[in-house]
Amino acid sequence: MLLLSGTGVSVIAALWLLLDIAFLISLFFHVLGDCARRSSPLCAIFQDLIRYGKTKSGRPAWLHCFDLPKRWFSHFYYLSVFWNGALLWLVVQSQLFGVEIPQWLQSLLHFFNKEPQQKISGGEVSTILALSLIWLHSLRRLEECLYVSIYSSGVIHVAQYGLGVAYYFLVGITLLDNANLDPKNITVSDLAFQVHWYHIIGLALYIWASVHQHRCHVILANLRKNKSGKVVTMNHVMPNGDWFERVSCPHYFAELLIYVSIALLFGLGHTSWWLVVMFVLFNQSLAAILCHEFYNEKFDNYPAHRKAFIPYLF
Ligand SMILES: NC(=O)c1ccc[n+]([C@@H]2O[C@H](COP(=O)([O-])OP(=O)(O)OC[C@H]3O[C@@H](n4cnc5c(N)ncnc54)[C@H](OP(=O)(O)O)[C@@H]3O)[C@@H](O)[C@H]2O)c1
Repeated sequence: MLLLSGTGVSVIAALWLLLDIAFLISLFFHVLGDCARRSSPLCAIFQDLIRYGKTKSGRPAWLHCFDLPKRWFSHFYYLSVFWNGALLWLVVQSQLFGVEIPQWLQSLLHFFNKEPQQKISGGEVSTILALSLIWLHSLRRLEECLYVSIYSSGVIHVAQYGLGVAYYFLVGITLLDNANLDPKNITVSDLAFQVHWYHIIGLALYIWASVHQHRCHVILANLRKNKSGKVVTMNHVMPNGDWFERVSCPHYFAELLIYVSIALLFGLGHTSWWLVVMFVLFNQSLAAILCHEFYNEKFDNYPAHRKAFIPYLF
């Protein structure tokens, strides 16, 4: 905190920057190094920290004590629906009904974000829309975790679980970076007048990416069912259809598009949100590359033209 004062960098931006760097280094380390083939304890720890679910296998037994069930992904979305929903409610109350933001939230935002003079005004519609879309995204993901996805006995590392919990807490705080939360009585028509072309494009991209992400989650779930919808296997099967024809992990690519769509809602000008987009880019790239390697090793007939993460690129 002391180190950051006077640098113009908020605590929240510094945190995202650190996470971005950590994942970028891990990505390069995995792609350029040969840690996956070495059996040293350090390499084993590194592999255990970057892998989860189907890409985590053949590890020393002592690493199993850090395992948590991968189905606990739902906890992240429970937290996000509750926390980001509460933030949305408090922001709407303050901006539309003139209710003061509670003191505990003001203190929290003051800790994570920059000084009040850095706040920009006139972006109320962006903040409310962005919080609404993150809340809706979390609600859909929660519904998918509970009712769509078929989880095997796959695991995640306790550190990955901790990061997932912190992630959805920080996402809401980041959206409020630069927001002017002084109590106001903005009417719905005032909000409508704030709408720009980039809100429309952002919303369209969000809907398009969300529809495809949901379809991909359904395709993955159906791989484990027979024609009558009964779960018949817990194996990992080769996915086909929709965006799977282009990439191994289209649901990760859709996730990236969803975060870019929220950057669009701020007219691409929300610096700390871009650090979140970078985080999603780096961590989903790493997960997609690991998954792509897994598929190529497992299936002899895996389509050669299929990229890992971003169509036509990699
Ligand atoms: N914003 C972020 O930073 C972030 C981070 C991580 C994930 N996410 C998002 O969360 C969503 C889920 O991510 P994930 O990493 O859990 O995806 P995933 O590993 O592909 O798993 C999704 C579901 O599909 C199953 N599955 C995966 N591959 C399969 C296959 N080949 N055959 C049969 N079933 C298969 C999994 O079962 P198992 O139990 O066997 O794995 C799980 O139930 C994604 O949309 C992702 O973008 C976001």
